[in-house]
Amino acid sequence: MAPTWVVRQQKMSLKSSDADIRSDGTQLEGTQSIKREQVELGVDLAPRNKFHLNISNPVMIASGTFGYDGYGRGITAEMDLGRLGAVIPKTVTRLPKEGNPEPRWDPPSYRQGLEQGDFLFLNSIGLANPGIESALAGLTAEWSGYGTTVFLSISGDSVSQFAEMTAMTQGVPGFQAIELNLSCPNVENGAMFGHSAQLTAAAVDAVRKNTDLPVLAKLAPNVPDVTEIAIAAVASGADALTICNTVPAMAIDLEARKPVLGGITGGLSGHGLRPISLALVYKTSQVVDVPIIGVGGIFEAKHVMEFLMAGATAVQVGSANLVSLWSPFQIVDELRDRLAASGIRRLDEVIGAAQ
Ligand SMILES: Cc1cc2nc3c(=O)[nH]c(=O)nc-3n(C[C@H](O)[C@H](O)[C@H](O)COP(=O)(O)O)c2cc1C
Repeated sequence: MAPTWVVRQQKMSLKSSDADIRSDGTQLEGTQSIKREQVELGVDLAPRNKFHLNISNPVMIASGTFGYDGYGRGITAEMDLGRLGAVIPKTVTRLPKEGNPEPRWDPPSYRQGLEQGDFLFLNSIGLANPGIESALAGLTAEWSGYGTTVFLSISGDSVSQFAEMTAMTQGVPGFQAIELNLSCPNVENGAMFGHSAQLTAAAVDAVRKNTDLPVLAKLAPNVPDVTEIAIAAVASGADALTICNTVPAMAIDLEARKPVLGGITGGLSGHGLRPISLALVYKTSQVVDVPIIGVGGIFEAKHVMEFLMAGATAVQVGSANLVSLWSPFQIVDELRDRLAASGIRRLDEVIGAAQ
């Protein structure tokens, strides 16, 4: 992929084809459609890294939403993961975590919730995971058989733990990149890594020094100025940014007069997150020259187009997987159809078009 500034220049000279697409990505009259096969969906998410991170299309499964347990439970043989750009299994921590008390979901079924018109999804899983040792010894062996790109998602509770966990991954096959979940507290002062440019820089730097693989920093949404954190992550060696994680939120059970979630507060995802994330992607893409992966409320190809036009190079689908595990497969097919109908051959023609 060309650096952002090149893409921006290209966009200026591509205005005639931009004008053929409506803001929702549908075709305007007079646009020449092309065949589906003529659409080139591949993108490089780490153009500055010697290994690069070429993925076949820009649609990935977001961490924590890969199957019902975050590690692929419920994914069937018919769901050919090779049709997706990448899969990010649930974040692992240094030691296993049991997670938060039940209830962990509001609504209890995202599928039913959506059917009943609920657009706000909350979860309070509390990063339940088997720990990095178990993941590296067991899970990653399966990942090699997925036929797609896999990112290992890690989270540490100190800078040294980020370094230690990354060092543990050296030489372990099964994944092609490391995504840092920075929505986690630093034990030294309780502050979230992703809430501070300094802590973000320190975590990225610790990981960067212990791996040559592409490193993606996944940013938190609830910060006063996302650009300063994004710049800090890139200056410390992040090859790409994932924007964003869930927004802290809660719901109250009026009958019981208490919070709905066992963890009291949780993370907001789904449709309600999309406009927030879009704004963060838009702002960030104006200040960094690495690829941005947009995440938040993507349920259909139209939403992917919104993120691409805001400046993202690729996207991750989260909550939609919990409505249907087929969602990302449908989204990638629909995206190809939309682009073909609008005569768009390459994603570069759309990336940042709304800026
Ligand atoms: C049930 C659930 C579990 C999640 N677990 C993780 C996680 O382990 N690590 C992480 O980085 N993000 C996690 N996320 C956040 C998602 O990866 C994604 O950033 C967020 O949900 C926004 O995307 P969406 O609106 O498409 O769901 C989780 C989200 C959900 C809904």
